[in-house]
Amino acid sequence: MHKTKGVYFALLITALSCQSPAGEDKPVKNTMNVTDPHSYAQPNESIVTHLEWKADVNFDTKTIKAQASLSLDNSADAQKLYLDTKGLDITGVFIGGTAVDFVLKEADEHKGSALEIPITPATQTVDIHYTTLPGAEALQWLSPQQTADKQYPFLFTQSQAILARSWVPIQDSPGIRFTYSAEVAVPQGLMALMSAENPTSVSADGKYHFQMKQPIPAYLLALAVGKLEFESLGPRSGVYAESSVLEKAATEFEDLESMITAAEKLYGPYRWDRYDLLVLPPSFPFGGMENPRLTFATPTILAGDKSLVSLVAHELAHSWSGNLVTNATWNDFWLNEGFTVYFEQRIMEQVYGRDYSEMLAALASQGLQEEIDHMTREGKENDTKLKLDLTGRNPDDGVTSIAYDKGYLLLRNLEESLGRDKFDGFLKDYFQQNAFQVMTTEEFISQFEEFLEGQDTRVDLKAWIYQPGLPVNAILPTSDRFSLVDAELQKFLQGADPSGLNTAKWTSHEWLHFIRSLPSDLVLAQLKVLDDTFNFTGSGNAEVLTAWLIQSVKHNYTPAYERLEEFLVRTGRRKFLSPIYSEMIKTGEGKTMALAIYEKARPNYHFVATNTLDEMLAID
Ligand code: BES
Ligand code: ZN
Repeated sequence: MHKTKGVYFALLITALSCQSPAGEDKPVKNTMNVTDPHSYAQPNESIVTHLEWKADVNFDTKTIKAQASLSLDNSADAQKLYLDTKGLDITGVFIGGTAVDFVLKEADEHKGSALEIPITPATQTVDIHYTTLPGAEALQWLSPQQTADKQYPFLFTQSQAILARSWVPIQDSPGIRFTYSAEVAVPQGLMALMSAENPTSVSADGKYHFQMKQPIPAYLLALAVGKLEFESLGPRSGVYAESSVLEKAATEFEDLESMITAAEKLYGPYRWDRYDLLVLPPSFPFGGMENPRLTFATPTILAGDKSLVSLVAHELAHSWSGNLVTNATWNDFWLNEGFTVYFEQRIMEQVYGRDYSEMLAALASQGLQEEIDHMTREGKENDTKLKLDLTGRNPDDGVTSIAYDKGYLLLRNLEESLGRDKFDGFLKDYFQQNAFQVMTTEEFISQFEEFLEGQDTRVDLKAWIYQPGLPVNAILPTSDRFSLVDAELQKFLQGADPSGLNTAKWTSHEWLHFIRSLPSDLVLAQLKVLDDTFNFTGSGNAEVLTAWLIQSVKHNYTPAYERLEEFLVRTGRRKFLSPIYSEMIKTGEGKTMALAIYEKARPNYHFVATNTLDEMLAID
């Protein structure tokens, strides 16, 4: 039981009655001295500790009919439970089998509607019966044609940041953790997977049972349903994909086990038992999503040469930064992503060597500086701070390279200032001490300062966090291998034939740097000779292709336009779509082309992508 509502608290710590996560002795703690501006939850009155979900997935109606039974931990004078919902058709709420009068409050554009349920301090469980709407924002229902094998339909969820509420009525706040179990019925022959203990084969009757014993916040709830197969990659890892993709995926991810080992060596044991990957159809809006025990990944990372596996290192790293130590609100999002990029870099360095990982660091740093300049020009200086105030805004507005790469650079500067061993000591303790807890930016600063015991660093932590842009004394990574690329590019610009350039040993990262560095006054003949020599338009590497398509649009290099259209129609990863469309709409002709392609492509995109692109292309 927790403290009486209204009691003054600096840090209200609640010992929850839910099962302790594996290997964790301490009770789960929720710090609630912070208010989450993106949730209606009132955790000081009642907290959800466990979800029991029964669901029927219907591809014909594109709906999920479900029952959510929530176990509660109430304050001594609890009267109301507030849940987050968005577009759910709530058909009944029951306590102890009796229907109760619930209120579904008026909807807010971003937050959705609060579901207010009358409870007493003695209420242990609340049952909610509901159906999702066909347009539920987290869900994407794919026709067979939109999958790799083109035989069966597919469904996947994307809950981060605040879309879990569009398929489960829940306290959808990253600071509130619960365990869950589920019984899910899907059409016979299809496999269902969740961010939980998963099956490895198709069930005979289309019914699946799931257990998630480690407590997670709602944004890590996930479900995928499709014609999937499994291949083991190691004692505690494997990959799920559609049949025609499985072999390619298994080869691409063959270093997975060594990544897990490298990660554990750095910052302590992997706390989630298994780590599996699910390769989704190409409309998946992100590169990867760190759903616990089962990372969701875009097929665009299957480049055939492992060149994009840093994405797996990234999602794996979230098993510590994010899933174990979780940002308290979306204003602290940099704690999830910045720490993860840092950790990802360290895994990549360990597995592939420092000169390789420094290329990744240099690419990130260049991208960051461009984004800071761009945001500053647009008057969005405030969004270049690490700590944000997203009250009244879509938390998606915080998903920029600031959280990722400025966050990363801060940690890298701390490492370089303190020395690697010392900084690693801090991080290892940080993950251990704060496991299964929430973290605010302020709590991180306080723990770090305590660790420093007054020792001076050249890093002005508060300036990095609370001031826009980069501090003047920030040290940025550079890559020796990119200096060699720059030299080859110069030769080309001075008239050398591209076939004579020294590119034989280049990885896709060198190519990426080469293409991104092409000057704006390049003429069409130069683009053509490059394309004829290196076949950029035909590249199977989605990063390289995106960089090339952006250059093609900039210079109106029309031979790439067929590929451009094909790529935009097939791929739903927002990170590729946004910069390409945004380059296209810079000219009148380009905008006409963008709108024509978008009309064809839009049905293939998930809500998080259309939400961004509708605004960019001014479609209502
Ligand atoms: N957790 C993020 C994806 C995300 C962030 C979804 C915010 C919704 C809201 C994931 O870990 C991520 O960062 N994905 C990146 C991977 C990249 C940085 C390696 C992506 O999708 O591009
Ligand atoms: Zn991430």
